[in-house]
Formats: sequence, C-alpha cells, structure tokens
Amino acid sequence: MCGIVAYFGKKAAQPILLEGLKRLEYRGYDSAGVALLKDNQFEIYKTSGRIANLEEILPEVDQQTTIGIGHTRWATHGEPNTINAHPHVDYTGKIVLVHNGIIENYGTLKKWLIKEGCQFKSDTDTEVLANLIGYFYARSQNRNGDAAPKGCDRFEWAVQQALNEIYGTYGLAILCLDCPGVMIGAKKGSPLMLGIGKNEYVFASDASAIIEHTSQAIYLSDNEMVCVSNEGFTTKTITNKTVEKELKEIEISLDQIELEGFDHYMQKEIAEQPEALRTCLNGRIDVKNGRVILGGIQNMLRDLTRTKRVILTACGTAWHAGIVGEFLFEQLARIPCEVEYASEFRYRNPIVEEGTLVIAISQSGETADTLAAIEQAKERGATVLGVVNVVGSTIARTTDAGVYLRIGPEIGVASTKAFTAQVAVLTMLAIELGRRRHLSADAAQGLLKELMGIPNKIEKILDQNDAIKAIAQANMNKENWLFLGRGFNYPVALEGALKLKEISYIHAEGLPAAEMKHGPIALITDYMPAVFIATKCSQYEKIIGNIQEVRARGGRTIVIATEGDEDIKPHADHLITVPDTMEELQPLLTVVPLQMLAYHAAVLRGHDVDKPRNLAKSVTVE
Ligand code: AGP
Repeated sequence: MCGIVAYFGKKAAQPILLEGLKRLEYRGYDSAGVALLKDNQFEIYKTSGRIANLEEILPEVDQQTTIGIGHTRWATHGEPNTINAHPHVDYTGKIVLVHNGIIENYGTLKKWLIKEGCQFKSDTDTEVLANLIGYFYARSQNRNGDAAPKGCDRFEWAVQQALNEIYGTYGLAILCLDCPGVMIGAKKGSPLMLGIGKNEYVFASDASAIIEHTSQAIYLSDNEMVCVSNEGFTTKTITNKTVEKELKEIEISLDQIELEGFDHYMQKEIAEQPEALRTCLNGRIDVKNGRVILGGIQNMLRDLTRTKRVILTACGTAWHAGIVGEFLFEQLARIPCEVEYASEFRYRNPIVEEGTLVIAISQSGETADTLAAIEQAKERGATVLGVVNVVGSTIARTTDAGVYLRIGPEIGVASTKAFTAQVAVLTMLAIELGRRRHLSADAAQGLLKELMGIPNKIEKILDQNDAIKAIAQANMNKENWLFLGRGFNYPVALEGALKLKEISYIHAEGLPAAEMKHGPIALITDYMPAVFIATKCSQYEKIIGNIQEVRARGGRTIVIATEGDEDIKPHADHLITVPDTMEELQPLLTVVPLQMLAYHAAVLRGHDVDKPRNLAKSVTVE
C-alpha cells in the first residue's frame, strides 16, 4: 500500500504535503515525491528512500504555491528508485497524478499506448494510467468516437474514459496544467477521502493526513470521483452520474488512525494475516491444473527443475519459516534440503556443489548476516533466490531472482504476518518444484485448494482473542516457558518461543517434543508452562505421550489442538483450538495463537510491544 495526499486551497501547499506524507509514512516508505502547481508549471520533486530524503531536496516554501499532490510509496511494480517514484506525468506533460493501488491490465494498456505514440520513462503501472488520461485528454473523441467536451470538462471526461479502461485498484489525486483551478480525486479498492476545510480541500489515503486541517470529510466509495475547484466540489461516479456524499466528522485520534484502531502494529499485523495471505496468494495459484505461478522465477523454472539440493538460509523468524520450508521441500518436492543460520553459514566453509539452490528468506531484505550468506553462496556458484517482503531491498537486488511476499509494510519488530507469508511462499515453491518432479496434479490440487482456504481458517483463530488473552493473563508472571511440537509443528514451537521472549522478556525455549526426555524434562515444575502444539497429525499419539510425561511430573500445559478434538481435553490445563488442515499447512494456523499469546503477555507485562528493548526491526549490522 502507499500513501497519497493532495492540497487545494489558499495556504502554501508544500509544508502541508510534507507533513501529510509523514503521517502516511507507515503505509509505505521506499520512495516519495510531490508535484507543485506553480506559475502554470508542474514542479516535481521525488526521490528514493524515506520522506526525510524528499525533505532535503525540496525548495524554499513559496507561499503563493497553494496546489499540489504528494505520495509515499510501497513498491509493487518497478524498483523503488527515483524514476519509479510518484508523482508521474503523462507524455504530453499536461497531466500529473499520484496513485495508491495496482493497475492489473497495465501491460496490455502500455503496449497499446506505445503503439499510439506514448513514451514511457518508468516501469510502473501508475505511469500507464497517467498516459491513458493524457491520451484521452489530447484527443477530441474517445475510442467509440464520442466527442470530447471542451475546456476543463474535458479533463474530467479524460479521467473517466481512462478509469473505465482499467482493471485494478486506485486511490488517485490528479492535476491538469490547462485547468489550474481543478483537482480530481478518484477511488476504487484503495482508500481515499476528502477533507473539507474553509476554502481548502485535502485528499488523503486516510484521516491521519487530514485531521490537523479539518474534522469534516467525505469518504469516497469505489468507482467514485470528486472534482474540487474554487467554486466548491462535485462528486460523481466514473460513469459521470452525480452522487450525493454525506459530510462526516472525523472522530478518531491521529495515533489510532495510523493503527486503524489497533493498540499496536503487532496486534494489527496479526489481525491482517488473513488479508495479507490472500494478497500473497492472489494470482499465484492455479488449483485447476495444480500449478503455481510465481512471476519472479518463471524464467528460471527450467533450471530450478535440475536442483539437486536446497539450502535455506535466514535469521530469526525467517529461519523458523525456513525449517518449515525444509520439511516442505523434502515432503512435496523430494529434494534434499537443509536450513542454515545465515550467521553460521557465512563463516563456515560450506559445501555448495553444482545443482545447489540457495534460498535466502528475509522480511526486510536488509539483514546483514543473510546478505553475507548470499555472497558466500554466490561465490561458490549457487543459484540464489530471495523470499523477501520489501521490494527493491538489498537482498531482493542481490539474489538471482525471487518471490516477494506482497503483504505491505511489517512495522512491529516482532515478525508475524511475514512468517505466515514466508511459509506460504515456500509452500508454493515446494509444490511447483514438486510438480516438475514427482508430485501429482491431484496432490497439488488438494494442497493448493486447502492453501486458498487458510485465510478464512486464521480468522476463526483470531476470534478466540479473549480466551487467549485470559491464558496469557493466567501465566504472564511465569518467567520460564517451554514450547513443544513435532514434525511440521516443531519449527512453530521455536517461533512461539521467540515471539514470547522478544516482546515479554520471559525466558522461553522451543524444542522438538520428543527431545524433552533427553534432558529438558528436568526443568518441569508447576511454575513452567509447557505449550504443546498437539493438532491432529501423524505424530498425534506421540505428542499426547509427551504431554502425559510433563503432567505426570506436575507440569502445567497450554495445548494448541484441532477444533473438535475431545480426546485432548483431559491433557490440557489451557486449551486453544485451530481448524483442521493438512499437516503440511498446519504451521500457517498453529503459529497464530502463539503470536497472540506472546502479544497479550507482553501487553499485560506493560512492555512496548512494537519496539521491544534491545531490538530493531531490521538487523543491518553483524
Ligand atoms: C522476529 O520477530 C525478529 N524480529 C527477528 O528474529 C527477525 O525475524 C530477524 O532479524 C530476521 O529479519 P529479516 O526477516 O528482516 O531478515
């Protein structure tokens, strides 16, 4: 997602745009820019990096420049560099716009516009939209031969023609050089609202960029547009039908808006997982044919089929996702696979023989140890893929190819939605490689169909928030916890322990449940919660045995079990259930209650959940 802000009024636009972008920076922060309408010219300033970089290149504020648009980007198409940063101007130089969303048919439109003589400078889908509006604005009729209106009505008409040609989502603010007294906003699938002040208007992605100017706003619905001018504003559909919009009072506070009502980013990102996974999976799964479409590696798939061994390398949570990946690659693709801490791999003299595929997993794409491991692997001739969230990050640019998570910014230091998305991407990779080897279409279809249903199943777990909070409350003062799982749920036990320790500062250890009897069971007391992941799986009976070993020694158990499992109840002091799913996909569900347990324990212990002590979101140092 990106943040857009636009100002039309009597005050200097530049500082209002800059402050508005700072408020929206949580929506995306890989590049930023503004366009100011001054002396009947567009003055455009844009740069890669944070908004602070933009601030450095802006000119002295001109009090007479009172109209402008601004954007802070979360790249979806095109690297986050200055050329791809918004605002984008059309090929005639008369239209400039900022956009939040994805134009899905931008490729087809771009090819047609190039044939029609349009030039392009960037790799973005947004520039296609700017050129499409400019194309219609420059012509006296549309593609059906309908005549274009004259004057500034043609600006509105050109926007409507263009928006009716595209598929996808948009939140837009648009200016036209010939119509300096008009600004247009339009919305479909991405948020856009219009703050109505005293002789001034502020468009923005959310109220955080509006609230300091006015508390009166209209919220656009999909396929609606609004034209503001010195005479007021009119709201229409993109098919030119007038719509009445009710003026609303913006009631929530600035902080709440950025958090969209959540108390912390971590809480928001746990809750976002169903939607984040849908976005991560969107357009990548072909259930009918049991295939996966991962654009970033399509041209490598033939080489990847010759993979003899996979090495997954990462740090922290990403390393836990890698262990799930190891089991998936071996189970589904029957390819030998191992997981390496990047911090260890980089200093060893690893054996990387011909046919070795290295996959680096990193949410931030900036983790120093993981970067160094990639260099090691490349020096030894391995093909290296990246599974990364931040588009255009160093790891994304250093690897031979890769797959983006596409889940939007993850701001909380404790990684949550990135873990489930990393596991989802590794699942898709394992299925696709498996299909090129021994995995049957039937088996792949079953897995992919179930994978598509995981977001809805996560929603059912999120509904247990109060019960999970109560369990955290009952155990929050216990200073040592154990997390135990088997098979696909063993790495989830490791992840649950990491979540708890990094934000609640409770000491926690994750283990394969069978390992208890090789030493750790000596630790068991009634004051050391043992969290068992005991879902219905191939090792269910075994894990029940492990639970009994702990309880026989006075241990207290928090059990994550499968919905409807009655047999488990006598073994659980506290019970949390997750919907049933295939064993290979269980980590996507069983991790969620552990994230929630950790979150509530940390909040109840009064800690800064989003910025826990001693930690940073991205460890760019060694
Ligand atoms: C996980 O909650 C931590 N924030 C940390 O372990 C993190 O996963 C690790 O530093 C790796 O970060 P990356 O995914 O950005 O490379």
